[in-house]
Amino acid sequence: MAEHTPVLLAEVLAGLEVRPEGRYCDATFGRGGHTAAILAALGPAGRVIAIDRDPQAIAAGRERFAGEPRLTLVRGSFGRLEELVRSTGLEGELQGVLLDLGVSSPQLDEAERGFSFMQDGPLDMRMDNESGQGAAQWLARASEREIVDVLRTLGEERFARRIARRVVESREAAPITRTAQFAELVAAAVPTREPGKHPATRTFQAIRIHVNGELDALAAALPQAVRLLAPGGRLCVVSFHSLEDRIVKRYIRREAQGDPVYAGLPDVPAHARPTLRRIGGALMPGPAELGRNPRARSAVLRIAERLAA
Ligand SMILES: C[S@@+](CC[C@H](N)C(=O)[O-])C[C@H]1O[C@@H](n2cnc3c(N)ncnc32)[C@H](O)[C@@H]1O
Repeated sequence: MAEHTPVLLAEVLAGLEVRPEGRYCDATFGRGGHTAAILAALGPAGRVIAIDRDPQAIAAGRERFAGEPRLTLVRGSFGRLEELVRSTGLEGELQGVLLDLGVSSPQLDEAERGFSFMQDGPLDMRMDNESGQGAAQWLARASEREIVDVLRTLGEERFARRIARRVVESREAAPITRTAQFAELVAAAVPTREPGKHPATRTFQAIRIHVNGELDALAAALPQAVRLLAPGGRLCVVSFHSLEDRIVKRYIRREAQGDPVYAGLPDVPAHARPTLRRIGGALMPGPAELGRNPRARSAVLRIAERLAA
C-alpha cells in the first residue's frame, strides 16, 4: 500500500500536548501517520476524529485502523470543519486540531491522480476525485486572463503570460488532457530554467491549489477550528508554501491581538477579545528529518492555544 511519511511528527505531538482522555481532530488524515501517533498517546477514553476529502485516504484509513474504536473517519473538506465534526455525534469540545496541509505522497506518486509532472497520467489533480472539475476541464474552459492570474498569484510564475498563451493556442488544436503533455507544453513556453526545479513545478502547484480551492478551505477552517477548541486546546498547522503559511501566520497574529479597535480600552466586549495565544515561532524540520524525508523540506509548523472566552 502507498505510504506517506508524517512530517514534524514529534513537534506536532508536543504542540498538541496530547492528554490521554482528550478529543482530537486530525483534519488532514492522509495515510494516518499523525493520527496513529495521537492514538498511541491516548488512553481508552481518548478520541480522534480524522477527516480527509480524498476517498482513497478514507478507504485506506478504514483498512489500516479497522477495529480501532477510538477513531472516527469522516470524508469531506475541512472547509466545513464544524459540520463534519458535529456529524460524528461526538459531544464536547476538542483538545486539539491538526491541519497538515497540501498533498500526500500517494496522491503525488500515483500517476492516475494526475498531480505529477514526472509521470504521465490524466491531468486531474483533484484531492476529491469524485466531485468538482479536474485540471484538464479547468484548462479547457478558463480564459487566458484567468490562467495568467492563477499562475501568477498561486504559483508566482514569472512566465504566466507565455504559458497561458501557449495553453490557449494549443487547446484549439487538441485538448490538453495528460500530465506529460501539459508539462512539455509548459517547459516549451518557459524560456529559462530554475536550477534543480522542473519548469512546470510552479504551474502544477498553482493549478492544484486553484482546482482544490486550497486557500479558501484553509481560511474557512481556521476560525471553525478555534470555535471547536476547548480553552487550553491546541491548534497545529503544517503548511508547505508561503501562501498557506501567510494565511496561518496572519490569522494567529490577529486572533492573539484581539480587535485593534478596542486596544488600550478598559472594557473589551467578548467578541473583540483575543481567542488565541501563540506558542513559539515557526518550526521547521531539522537536517535529520530532511535526510530521511526530503518532501518535508518546505514544511512550517505553527502552534497556538485557545484562550478562555
Ligand atoms: C500532507 S497530507 C496529510 C498526511 C497525514 N498527516 C499523514 O501523516 O499521513 C494532506 C492530506 O490532506 C487532505 N486534504 C487537503 N485539503 C483538504 C481539505 N480541504 N479537506 C480535507 N482534506 C484535505 C489531502 O487529501 C491529503 O490526504
